[in-house]
Amino acid sequence: MRGYARKAGDDEERWGIAGLLHDFDWEICPTPEDHPNFGAQILREHGYPEDMVRAVLTHGDHTGIPRESLMEHTLFAVDELSGFIRAVALVRPSKSLEDVTPR
Ligand SMILES: [Fe+2]
Repeated sequence: MRGYARKAGDDEERWGIAGLLHDFDWEICPTPEDHPNFGAQILREHGYPEDMVRAVLTHGDHTGIPRESLMEHTLFAVDELSGFIRAVALVRPSKSLEDVTPR
């Protein structure tokens, strides 16, 4: 997220934090009915900027909230990409991300 923010000339901290926080409620609300709406509510209560809250909300298609900003589209893509990279690691004998090297 930080790299894409840099490439877009946007705020690396905001994008990076949105990426880090987007699933923070998953362990307490692992259902589409609650996640990420529960987390977004907590972020709002703690004063997080609305663009970050929207990025968290729009990473889930099931919320029905359309992605509009570049940060929202990027968070959705990076979420999928990081899952793919994790899957690549898990099919290696070590199952370690350290053994996944870009070519
Ligand atoms: Fe999620």
